[in-house]
Amino acid sequence: RKILLINGPNLNLLGTREPTIYGSATLPDVVASTISLGKTHNIEVHDFQSNHEGEIVDFLHSHFVRPRVSAGAGASAGESPKAHDRTAVIINPAAFTHTSVAIRDALLATGFPFVEVHVSNVHAREEFRRHSYFSDKAVGVVAGLGVYGYRAALEFWGAKWDEEDG
Ligand code: DQA
Repeated sequence: RKILLINGPNLNLLGTREPTIYGSATLPDVVASTISLGKTHNIEVHDFQSNHEGEIVDFLHSHFVRPRVSAGAGASAGESPKAHDRTAVIINPAAFTHTSVAIRDALLATGFPFVEVHVSNVHAREEFRRHSYFSDKAVGVVAGLGVYGYRAALEFWGAKWDEEDG
């Protein structure tokens, strides 16, 4: 079981950046608590933060296990490897939420199901923050609950996989 925890631009400044909007927890705090919560659900958390769009695309590709392509008739083509079934993404695309077709496409290309997290309530801020290139493809969206949103997203995957795996 694997979660890719991805944070976009400026989130490295979490805790010092506009604290009235984003609160005082730092990104290392968020990562550490997500990793330790992950352990309680048997989930490996791979964290990545970048201020560069293409690096986020590359990070997603680096975790993508390509489905086997089989040529012969009767062979099961495009079979998805099992590892892929238990990989999910928790992503706060930050400003790329409102701009990035490339990261959206990378998520769709890898097929990783994802939860979109925003620390602030993007619907209660500037108009341009209301549109997301991700929400229509997300399993769910958490916004406005502060850094608790990351915890909520992780608990969601943990509970879902615990239930499915019995
Ligand atoms: C954010 C909201 C975005 O609009 C903004 O660009 C961010 C952070 C949030 O977590 O609330 O950088 O994704």
